[in-house]
Amino acid sequence: MKLPIYLYGHPVLRKECEEVEEGYPGLKELVADMYETMAASEGVGLAAPQIGKNIRLVVIDADVLGDDFPECAGRRLTLINPEIDILDGEKISRSEGCLSVPGLSENVSRVEHIRLNWLDEDFVEHEEEMSGFLSRIVQHELDHLDGQLYIDHISPIRKQLIRSKLRNIAEGRTRCDYPTKYAPKK
Ligand code: NI
Repeated sequence: MKLPIYLYGHPVLRKECEEVEEGYPGLKELVADMYETMAASEGVGLAAPQIGKNIRLVVIDADVLGDDFPECAGRRLTLINPEIDILDGEKISRSEGCLSVPGLSENVSRVEHIRLNWLDEDFVEHEEEMSGFLSRIVQHELDHLDGQLYIDHISPIRKQLIRSKLRNIAEGRTRCDYPTKYAPKK
């Protein structure tokens, strides 16, 4: 089932998420719905707060980027309670977008190498070192679990330049090709 994507300005995107306990009701259906929602909106990653749930759950399907970024080829990951270690301090700047911030993309500086620990949907533990764009997607999605968005990382000048676009999204004046949920009216 396709789920609406919560947009910038909605408080659910700004909350710290809770760990997922084994036996979480309806988890497999929720994961399947998140993959379906992500595919329908042509995203490569989706975090649970973006569909209105403040739990530490992320889905990633980066295969479509495999031609440009070989580390992304065939990568489909369900991340439960993921934990990240930064492996080096070198930062690279690249363009990012987010399904919760439609119509915008901005350069974001992120570290290249990470080590990730997570549970899959069967609660099996995994650990892997990641780099390149896959590492970037993971960092972007994990930010969502701590109530952060990629636009929090851009310079004050860039933020100023996109301020009116952000306000339009937050106030429900944007068009989107996928089902969305706006912030409640103040
Ligand atoms: Ni995002």
